[in-house]
Amino acid sequence: TSLRELAKKKNLLIGTSLRHWPFTREHKYREILYREFNTITIENAMKIENIHPQPDHYNFSESDLLVDFASDHQMKVRGHTLVWDKGLPTWITEGKYSKEETKRILKEHIQMIVSHYKGKVFAWDVVNEAFHDDGTYRDNFWFRSIGPEYIELAFRWAHEADPDALLFYNDYNNEGSNAKSDTIYQMISDFKKRGVPIHGVGFQLHTAIDQKPDLKAISKNMKRLADLNIQVHITELDVKVNKKQAATKEAWDQQAEIYGDLLKTCLSASNCKAFIMWGFTDRHSWLEEYSPLIFDKNYNPKPAYQKLIDIL
Ligand code: XIL
Repeated sequence: TSLRELAKKKNLLIGTSLRHWPFTREHKYREILYREFNTITIENAMKIENIHPQPDHYNFSESDLLVDFASDHQMKVRGHTLVWDKGLPTWITEGKYSKEETKRILKEHIQMIVSHYKGKVFAWDVVNEAFHDDGTYRDNFWFRSIGPEYIELAFRWAHEADPDALLFYNDYNNEGSNAKSDTIYQMISDFKKRGVPIHGVGFQLHTAIDQKPDLKAISKNMKRLADLNIQVHITELDVKVNKKQAATKEAWDQQAEIYGDLLKTCLSASNCKAFIMWGFTDRHSWLEEYSPLIFDKNYNPKPAYQKLIDIL
């Protein structure tokens, strides 16, 4: 049995982010990928600096390879990410463009990428991490160049390029009850009133065993988004253990508990449609020194994997 097989019966998208480097070099990596998951997010290859490294040059080769693999194995692809203040090439940040030029650059970028993957990417993280934890706008490159309306413009432009794609706003520390999740809720209510196309919110959920998520608050937040007809995807889940605790059984069990609790919370919400982890093996994680994932460095399943199986 596998997570993928079990998730199918629950109509759940279960997924992982995916890296080009191990994908092309480690057979085990590819094998677990399509055995266990029905959905992928490409971890870095679609970020602007990688996919659009020069003004007139797009590099689709890495992401095309991964997207084609997904379609060969009947897996869905989440696109990540069109607008972010990280992963920006210097031709954009140091280009000294005017406001109008920056808008044109962003529009062309979004529409080029979204139309290239039309019909292949079912959901996009259109805007990533636009707010501080206190709910105010991040004073990032796009905000400074265009103003706060860069967010809604990005959604409108993406929708023009692929009217069938689901469009998400994605962030961290936005799953529970706090100023950031309130701001996002208000932004979406406003978008809905004014007809700005948006379909979902991504909860990154980078968390840790000493930072237990508040499940009640998460359910409540999911519910108020459901009332706006907004989907939720858990988009980048990982659960850090402290470096010292990494080897102990208690630490793995605590980690498993958090994975399991979040899966249950997602399954019990009508609008939580995807449970995506930010990688699957501790061998290839952006936080690898904290062993945050469900397979160990040798591709053996950890207690967290078994916990997910038991719940599904
Ligand atoms: C991270 C990748 O995992 C790293 O490999 C890369 O060096 C930096 O970006 N929030 C996001 C992701 O939305 O895109 C980030 O991914 C992790 C935090």
